[in-house]
Amino acid sequence: MTFENLHLDLQDSILLVTMTRESALNAINMATMASLHRLFGEYIPDHEEISGVILTGAGQKAFAAGADIKEFASFSAQEGKLLSATGHETYFLIEKSRIPVIAAVNGYALGGGCELAMACHMRIAGEHANFGQPEVNLGLIPGYGGTQRLVQYIGKAKAIELLLTADMINAEDALRWGLVNHVVPSGEEVSKAREILLKISTKGPVAVRKVIEAVNAYFTEATDGFHFEVESFGYACGTQDFREGAKAFVEKRKPAFTGH
Ligand code: CAA
Repeated sequence: MTFENLHLDLQDSILLVTMTRESALNAINMATMASLHRLFGEYIPDHEEISGVILTGAGQKAFAAGADIKEFASFSAQEGKLLSATGHETYFLIEKSRIPVIAAVNGYALGGGCELAMACHMRIAGEHANFGQPEVNLGLIPGYGGTQRLVQYIGKAKAIELLLTADMINAEDALRWGLVNHVVPSGEEVSKAREILLKISTKGPVAVRKVIEAVNAYFTEATDGFHFEVESFGYACGTQDFREGAKAFVEKRKPAFTGH
């Protein structure tokens, strides 16, 4: 099985997965999303020797700076809805994984990248990491679960502020607000995640799986919100505002939104 844009390294039953589009700040394009889907939907369930997974990004600058804006800049409402639904399906595979998955956040975790980190069971942030959901800058909303999971982690007041202002928060604020589990010196994100996963690997695998299922069960009633997000992301994708927002991003200028 091959995994475009991912590098896999299995050591002591822990699978380290690195997103490898460093020059695009590990922006998650459709090929990366398909790889993550195959990894969590087929490969990991078939490999019982894996007891835990670490997800990280190549380089020192970014975990992942979002969905690949250039790739979906001209998407219609229907295509946007499909993109969002595919992301939801993949991220639910991660959240519902039978083994723990930890995001080692080594830099920017923005948009779909922040949403990917939030779909993992824990987050270890390097001290220079930044988190945010900047989609409104593009005339868009988060499409990979951000409107739901951010509220789950940091509460409605802080979540709505971040979602509406597109402000980024640093690692210390993310720790204080409950978005990340630990902040470590830059470069030590993976080793801290490995230490936690090795500890968990000594526990009963059935108990580990059941804890993950039970904690996820607490949030089951939020499922309708995820559906609403898919519909709304698709709607926003079909607007002139998103066309303008994405064009302005590529041209490195401020967007001129018209509200259409
Ligand atoms: N998609 C595509 N390319 C991206 C990208 C993204 N999300 N983020 C960064 N890149 C690319 C840049 O275009 C640039 O490529 P070029 O060299 O070809 O111009 C390269 O990565 C390096 O980025 P910058 O030059 O912009 O680096 P910087 O240090 O000046 O800025 C940054 C870093 C603040 C993270 C900036 O890159 C940025 O704002 N990125 C976009 C963040 C964003 O809006 N994310 C949300 C995406 S939409 C989404 O994710 C929707 C969803 O929920 C599904």
